[in-house]
Amino acid sequence: MAKNQAPVIRLEDYTPPPYLVDRVDLDVRLEPDDARVASRLHARPNPDGGRGEFFLDGEDIELVSLELDGVPLPRSDYRLDDDGLTITSPPDRAFVLDISTRIDPSANTQLMGLYRSNGVYCTQCEAEGFRRITFFPDRPDVLAVYTVRIEARKSDAPILLSNGNLVETGDIPGSDRHFAVWHDPFPKPSYLFALVAGDLGHVADTFTTASGREVALAIYVERGKEDRCDYALQALKRSMRWDEEAFGREYDLDVFNIVAVSDFNMGAMENKGLNVFNDKYVLASPETATDTDYANIEAIIAHEYFHNWTGNRITCRDWFQLCLKEGLTVFRDQEFSSDVRSRPVERIGDVRTLKAHQFVEDAGPLAHPVRPETYREINNFYTATVYEKGAELIRMLKTLLGDGGFRAGMDLYFDRHDGTAATIEDFLACFAEATGRDLTHFKLWYRQAGTPEVTATGRYDAAAKRYELTLEQSCRPTPGQPTKEPLQIPIVFALIGPGGEEIEAPRTASPNVNGNLIELASPRETIVFEDLPGKPVPSLLRGFSAPVKLNANLSGDDLLFVAREDRDAFNRWQAVQTLATGILVDAQAKFATGDRPDLDPRFVDSLRRTAQDGDLDPAFRAQVLTLPSESDIARELGRDVDPDAIHDAGEWLRGLLGTRLGGELRDIYSRLGTNEPYSPDAESAGRRALRNTAMTLLAATGDGDGIALVERHYRNADNMTDRMAGLAALTRRPGAAADDALADFFERYRTDPLVLDKWFTIQATVPTPEALPRIVDLTKNPAFSLANPNRVRALVGAFAAGNATQFNRPDGAGYRFVADIVLAVDRANPQLAARLLSAFRSWRSLEPARRAAAEAELRRIAARDGLSRDTTDIVQRSLE
Ligand code: PHE
Ligand code: ZN
Repeated sequence: MAKNQAPVIRLEDYTPPPYLVDRVDLDVRLEPDDARVASRLHARPNPDGGRGEFFLDGEDIELVSLELDGVPLPRSDYRLDDDGLTITSPPDRAFVLDISTRIDPSANTQLMGLYRSNGVYCTQCEAEGFRRITFFPDRPDVLAVYTVRIEARKSDAPILLSNGNLVETGDIPGSDRHFAVWHDPFPKPSYLFALVAGDLGHVADTFTTASGREVALAIYVERGKEDRCDYALQALKRSMRWDEEAFGREYDLDVFNIVAVSDFNMGAMENKGLNVFNDKYVLASPETATDTDYANIEAIIAHEYFHNWTGNRITCRDWFQLCLKEGLTVFRDQEFSSDVRSRPVERIGDVRTLKAHQFVEDAGPLAHPVRPETYREINNFYTATVYEKGAELIRMLKTLLGDGGFRAGMDLYFDRHDGTAATIEDFLACFAEATGRDLTHFKLWYRQAGTPEVTATGRYDAAAKRYELTLEQSCRPTPGQPTKEPLQIPIVFALIGPGGEEIEAPRTASPNVNGNLIELASPRETIVFEDLPGKPVPSLLRGFSAPVKLNANLSGDDLLFVAREDRDAFNRWQAVQTLATGILVDAQAKFATGDRPDLDPRFVDSLRRTAQDGDLDPAFRAQVLTLPSESDIARELGRDVDPDAIHDAGEWLRGLLGTRLGGELRDIYSRLGTNEPYSPDAESAGRRALRNTAMTLLAATGDGDGIALVERHYRNADNMTDRMAGLAALTRRPGAAADDALADFFERYRTDPLVLDKWFTIQATVPTPEALPRIVDLTKNPAFSLANPNRVRALVGAFAAGNATQFNRPDGAGYRFVADIVLAVDRANPQLAARLLSAFRSWRSLEPARRAAAEAELRRIAARDGLSRDTTDIVQRSLE
C-alpha cells in the first residue's frame, strides 16, 4: 500500500448511525489564534441503528473538557485518537454531552473548518470540516437543530453571523466583547453549519415570497466592495422567484445571507441561510467583470440558493449520494439560466463544458460513476461527473417522463423526503410512482461510468419510400468496470425532408419511438420509417438529449444541410462543430507530418451565411463561429496526441477564416460597435460576444490591419469584457504590443485582486515557448501567493488546464513546473493540490515522449513522503 493511502470506503458497507443528535447548542468564542468551542449535544440511541460505541469525528482540534449529563467523563470511558473521540459505553437512553475544544483559526491553511480569510473568521464544513471545529458524528445522516452563540471582540468582528434567524444580540459588560445568538429551526447535517465573523460591509434588500412572507436579504463583503454586489443581489431575487414558479419552492427562513470571502477552495457553499461564496462569484462591476463573470455569478448564486430545497431541506444519506443534491441542483441552475437568458445558447455552453471536463474525465484514469461505489477521499469526488453528468441524468429523466411526469415526481420527492437524508433509490422511486414508469434500466446510468458511443446508420429505399435507421451503442471499459451494459438512451430526433421541412410524426411500427423520441435500450436497434416523401436527413440527439458521443455518419453535404436547415438550433451548431472537427483532425495529421492541409470552401460559405444572418441571435452566431477547442480535438483523437500539431491546425484554420471572411467580420465588428453604456444582460453580452469573436478571427490573420484593430479595441474598451478580449488577442503573439498591453493592464488594476487574477491567467495561457519561463517568473512576483487558491488557479491552474502546448512541452518542463507547485501546495492545502494534479488525467492519451515525461512527474509525486491523502488518492488512481 502506498504511503498515506486512506482506506477504501464502500457504499455497500453503509450502516445507520448508532446514535442520533437532535439538538446542538454551540458557544463559540473567537480570537484570531485561539477559538474556544463549547458544544452541547442532545443525543439518543438510534431506534434504527445498532448499539455500541458512540464515535465522534474530530481532526486537528484539542479536547479541553468532556462531560456526560453534567458529569466529567472518566478517562476510562472514552478513547481519543487521530480521527476522533469514542465514547465506549454510552447510556441506553437520551443523554447530553458537553464538549469543549480549542482551535487556532489563523493556522488553518486548508480552508476546511474554522479559518481566517483577510481578517474574517469563516467556516467551511462540507464535506468533512465540522470535525475540525468540534467532536461530532460528522456524517450527513445525523440531522440536528442548531442554536449558535458567537462571541468576539467588537473591534475585531462587529458582524457575527450563523445559520437561521437572529434571536439575540448583546454586549458583554465591562469588556469590548459582544455576542449574537442564531437559531436554525430546520434540522440539518453538520456539513451545512456555518459561522462568519468580521468587519464586513453589506448591502441589503427584501424579498416577498409567493405566500407573502418578507425575507431580509443581505450580501456581506469586504468594506469598500459594497458597490459591486448589486448584480448578485438581483440574481438572488430572480432565483427566489424562479424556484417558486418552476418548482413551487418557497424560501423558508426570515433571513437569507450571503458572505463573499477571498480565500475559498471552491465556488461557493450552500450553508443553510448563510451561503459563503468565493468573492469571484459575487463581486462585479462593468470595469472589473466580464460577461462570462456576470453569467457565472448569476448561475452560482442560483445554484446555492436552489440547494435550500435540493440539498438542505432534503439532504444526502451519505457522500456516495452526492449527485442527489449536486446533479439535481446543477440541472436546476441550468434551467434557470435557460429561462432568464437564451435556451439554445445556454445549452451549447453547458454541452461545451460537459465535453471539455466530464467527457475527458470519463476517458481517463479518474473515471467514476455518477454515484461512485467506493472512495478514499470524498473531497476528490466533487467532479464534473457528479455535477455535470449528474445534471444530464436529471435532464434525461425529464425527457423520458415529459414535463408533467417530471414535475409530479419532483413534487412527490419534496413532499415525501422533506426533513430527511435521502438516497438515489428514494429519488427515483418518486418518479416511478408518480408516473408508473419502471426506472430499473435507467438507474444503470448512476452505476456505470464511461461515455457511451452511439453510431447511427441510415438507409433509404426510394422505391419503397422507406428509411431504415440503425442505432448501435457501446461503451469502453473504465477503471474497475471492464465490461459495460447497454443503457437506456433518449434520442430526441426529427427526419428532415429534402426541402428542409420536418417530416411530421413519421410512421413507424417500432415500439421504441414515441413522437420525437427514440428510446434506445439495446446494443443495436433498427427502426423502419415508412411512407416518406423523399430521402430524409436525420437530426439526432437534438438539444444533446443524452450525454453520449454520437457518430451520426452524415456526409459533408448532409452536415452542411443540417447546419443550414435544422429547426433545432443546437444541432445546427453541432453540425458546424462536427464539420470543423473533421477539418481540424485532418489538418493536425498533416501538420504532424509537415504537410499543408486545405479547406473546403463550402465550410467557409456555411460560416459566412451564419455570420451574416441578422435573424439569428448574435450569441448563437458567436457560438457557431467559435471553433472546437484544442482539448476537443485531443479528445476526438483519443491517442498519441500531439498538442503542437493540434495547435498549429487551429491557428491555420482561424487565420484562414479571418482572411476569407475578412469583409463580413469587419462588417460585424463595425455594426455591433456601440456608444451605449455597458449592460450585463444576455442580449448585450451576445452582441459583444459576436463582435469579439469577429475581432479574434481578424487578429488571427496576423496582418497589420488586424493587429491595429485589436490594439484600438483594447485601448478604447469601456468594460472588462472588451478589454480582456483585446488583451487575449494581443498576447497570443509575444512582442512589444503584447508587453505594452500587459504593463498597461497591470498598472490599471494592480490593487484589484480579482482583476489581477485575469492578468495572471492571460500570461499563463500564451501558447508559445516564452510562456513557461515567464510563468515561473510570475510565481516570484510579490502579487503572487501560494496561500490564495484563486491566485494559484489563475496562474498554475490556468496553465495546466488551458495551455495545452506549453503544459505539454516536449521537454517535460511544463509537467515539472506543475508537479513542483502541487508538492509546494500540498502540505498547506491538500484539496487545492489534488485539484491541480488532476490536470495530468489525460497523460495516457499523449504521444509516447510526452506520455513518458508526464508519467515521470506523477511517479516523482507518488514517491514523496508525507503527501496528503487527497493528493495520494489522485496520484495513485492516475497511475493505476
Ligand atoms: N456544495 C458546494 C456546491 O456545489 C460545493 C462545495 C463543496 C463547496 C465542498 C465547498 C466544499 O455548491
Ligand atoms: Zn452544489
